[in-house]
Amino acid sequence: EQQDIHRASTFAPVNIAVIKYWGKRDTKLNLPTNSSLSVTLSQDDLRTHTTASCSLSFTKDTLTLNGEDQDISGARTQACFKELRKLRRSVEAEDTSAAKLSAMGLRIVSENNFPTAAGLASSAAGFAALVRSIANLYALPSTPTELSRIARQGSGSACRSLFGGYAGWHQGSQNDGSDSVAYEVAPASHWPDMRALILVASAEKKGVSSTAGMQQTVATSALFQRRVEVIVPERMAAMEKAVKEKDFAAFAQLTTRDSNSFHACCADTDPPIFYMNDTSRAAVRMCEAINAQAGSTICAYTFDAGPNAVIYYLAANEATVAGTFKALLGTKTGWESEKGKAVEAAQEVP
Ligand code: PMV
Repeated sequence: EQQDIHRASTFAPVNIAVIKYWGKRDTKLNLPTNSSLSVTLSQDDLRTHTTASCSLSFTKDTLTLNGEDQDISGARTQACFKELRKLRRSVEAEDTSAAKLSAMGLRIVSENNFPTAAGLASSAAGFAALVRSIANLYALPSTPTELSRIARQGSGSACRSLFGGYAGWHQGSQNDGSDSVAYEVAPASHWPDMRALILVASAEKKGVSSTAGMQQTVATSALFQRRVEVIVPERMAAMEKAVKEKDFAAFAQLTTRDSNSFHACCADTDPPIFYMNDTSRAAVRMCEAINAQAGSTICAYTFDAGPNAVIYYLAANEATVAGTFKALLGTKTGWESEKGKAVEAAQEVP
């Protein structure tokens, strides 16, 4: 007998932090040691598209990413499924005529249009899309804030991809993580001419996972204490102000310095972790040269847990910034210039 299949789809964008999340105070719930702030990239360029379906005929939960079966037995994915099913059960308890979707197997199908796990925040878009597609399937009345609390348990940075534009993530103070959620700093429309150039220095899977890197940093870096107690709180306030006032020079200064602070903490661990390579450092020098030539700060670099550079600039400086990078580094060994593309940053989430 043919069983009904229920289905819902969504897109979630990649976000790139300008004040980095680095360090967990609770590894099970992904509770961070500091707040963070990111810019959401355009869904036309970098995004995860996910379809969630459920049916009585699905005997178990499954997930495919770009056509390949994924292991979903990990605690992170299980936590997301569990939280969403719990919310669905409360809907079913209130409306007894509602179909018992919470008891059915889930089939999740995801597609990324960018290299997975190359330090391009694939897990952020991935878990945000997974959580929202299931929330849509279950017709949950949840707000983006509540969904961010769930997506955070999949991957910390994913909570910020539930919001478009400029998104923050409060570290929170509760042990159960109830106040460790994302929030909107400003919508994309507030500062729509922000652009990001992604320079793929290597599309290989990263060496040290963010989870392992954070654990090692928290355990062994002496610099890290200063970062979470003093440096980041000050920079979070200054970054929110820079975004609200659309002060690009301040935004850029804070972005590059915070990226350097994060990578300095990684180098300060035992043994040291190096995510950036010679190509990454060439991008840093190139940014400095462009700013020196311009006589003002018109571009900013930032690096996540991998060697790829993300360069932020304003649309008015597209030719100067993106043009210079493409002209000078396009042929350099180690750059895959065809994958480095300028994307519209600060996209609204539907
Ligand atoms: O969300 P995770 O566990 O993949 O960690 C992301 C860490 C950084 O990308 C380096 C910083 C950030 O805030 O996104």
